[in-house]
Amino acid sequence: MSPLLLLLLGLLSLVLCVLRGRKRRAGEPPLIKGWIPYVGKALEFGKDAHKFLEEHKKKYGDVFTVRIAGKYMTFITDPLMYPNIIKQGRQLDFHEFSDKVAPVTFGYPPVINGKYPGLSEQVKRSFNLLQGDKLTPLTESMMGNLMLVFRQDHLQEEGGWKIGNMFEFCFSIMFEATFLTMYGRPLSTRRHSGMDVLMDHFIKFDTMFPLLIAQIPIRLLGRTKAIREKLINYFLPNKMSCWSNTSQFIKRRSELFEQYDALRDVDKAAHHFAMLWASVGNTAPATFWAMYYLVSHPEALQVVRQELHDLLTLSGVDFSSDKDVMLSREQLEKLLYLESSINESLRLSSSSMNIRVAQEDFSLRLDAERSASVRKGDIIALYPQIMHLDPEIYEDPETFRFDRYMQDGTVKTEFYKDGQKLKYYLMPFGSGSTMCPGRHFALNEIKQFLCLLLLYFDLELEEGQTRATLDPSRAGLGVLLPNNDVHFRYRLRKV
Ligand code: HEM
Ligand SMILES: *[C@@H]1O[C@H](CO)[C@@H](O)[C@H](O)[C@H]1NC(C)=O
Ligand SMILES: *[C@@H]1O[C@H](CO)[C@@H](O)[C@H](O)[C@H]1NC(C)=O
Repeated sequence: MSPLLLLLLGLLSLVLCVLRGRKRRAGEPPLIKGWIPYVGKALEFGKDAHKFLEEHKKKYGDVFTVRIAGKYMTFITDPLMYPNIIKQGRQLDFHEFSDKVAPVTFGYPPVINGKYPGLSEQVKRSFNLLQGDKLTPLTESMMGNLMLVFRQDHLQEEGGWKIGNMFEFCFSIMFEATFLTMYGRPLSTRRHSGMDVLMDHFIKFDTMFPLLIAQIPIRLLGRTKAIREKLINYFLPNKMSCWSNTSQFIKRRSELFEQYDALRDVDKAAHHFAMLWASVGNTAPATFWAMYYLVSHPEALQVVRQELHDLLTLSGVDFSSDKDVMLSREQLEKLLYLESSINESLRLSSSSMNIRVAQEDFSLRLDAERSASVRKGDIIALYPQIMHLDPEIYEDPETFRFDRYMQDGTVKTEFYKDGQKLKYYLMPFGSGSTMCPGRHFALNEIKQFLCLLLLYFDLELEEGQTRATLDPSRAGLGVLLPNNDVHFRYRLRKV
């Protein structure tokens, strides 16, 4: 979040609310209020959340409460305490927060009030259709769609090197292939027309996403409201009913929305749009980082490509670049070095804050000896990026090591802090009952994308560029975007 934004937010709250201080009570964690009433530490936090938390951790210990934009947030920064926090589902609710923020951001009516009985639970249940057995047809469909987009857009011309912008490249391919996989295609053609316009609107909306999440009224954000309307209109029921090969997941959601007369067509469409954001908003930048780290580490790229060729050989596939390739879910699961590379790039690029809201005053157990008193309405926050970049857990934490999650040819799961084995050491997808239901699908689609990339292309970074760095403006909200796009060279591999 930009400092300016937080200032605005703080001032708005200042006008709306009565100033009320709060004093630390016995048993409560150290309380850090900042000197500006109400705004508290928002400005500092907004500027660089990671640095802010590191510094406060040094000064106040592993657990402390900070007043941020009028909210009291208790940060738990010791990953050894995570299991205890994640376990306490009853007193710490996540949805109270997300159910308020998401509707305002995506423009649908809040789901929690009595107007839509059962909807919230049913929506939650529909998340099963992204996992388990249902992941197989999704993965197959994604493979076909990725192959289609690669074939038609990138595999046609023979010959020399081409130059691309890496983020744009990843984004456009993943956006369209994911869209086709989730929502389906028009009856008579394999691709939607106007995908580039949709994508352009999506990116404009996405740029404003952190401001919307911060609850800045959309009418203060220029054309954002008009753009969001266009995005929502894309998913009106009369349009979606003309699409074929829609995923079970989206079909189920449409059926569900039909059961509620109180939902208008635009409301249903806004729900569908929100799901588009959930399925692409993090996956596209995650794909970028995975590609970027591989292409900028040729030794890693080499190992991962070899693993892929070995798998194809073992499966009796005679690969050549004029043929399409299909990789099944089972095959993808065998690509462990590829998976480790993706996990490593998620470790380096993800910054999601896990938020829970205290449902009552109670004593939060931290570990065997310690607990902390929290008050009803307080926010309990985990900020896994601190753990992801902790040199005690990950040696040389700023460095990309593609095989960091591998040991003797199998997956490494032992990471330590203070000599104790960590239950949680990699949390790009959140935790506990609110963990991302699309995580398996996301990992698979990133794998599929990288497989096609490595099979069909020679890849190089253009020389003389600055390294891609993390843009902190959506710290706490998911996978970070790069500050700058990166040029790369690619050409068809002769196989
Ligand atoms: C690399 C890609 C992705 C990342 C890093 C990611 C991350 C996350 C995170 C951090 C959360 C919040 C969890 C929490 O606070 O505990 C979340 C929620 C969610 N994600 Fe993902 N996600 C990704 C891809 C996807 C995909 C591909 C889909 C769908 C196809 C998806 C669907 C969802 C949904 C529906 C929720 C809300 C769950 C709820 O309300 O309980 N995500 N995701
Ligand atoms: C569309 O669905 C049909 C049947 O469900 C399937 O046979 C076909 O392969 C799918 N086509 C695409 C392009 O996904
Ligand atoms: C990568 O992370 C996922 C969870 O995010 C985990 O299930 C998987 O085992 C990890 N794989 C490797 C190779 O680390």
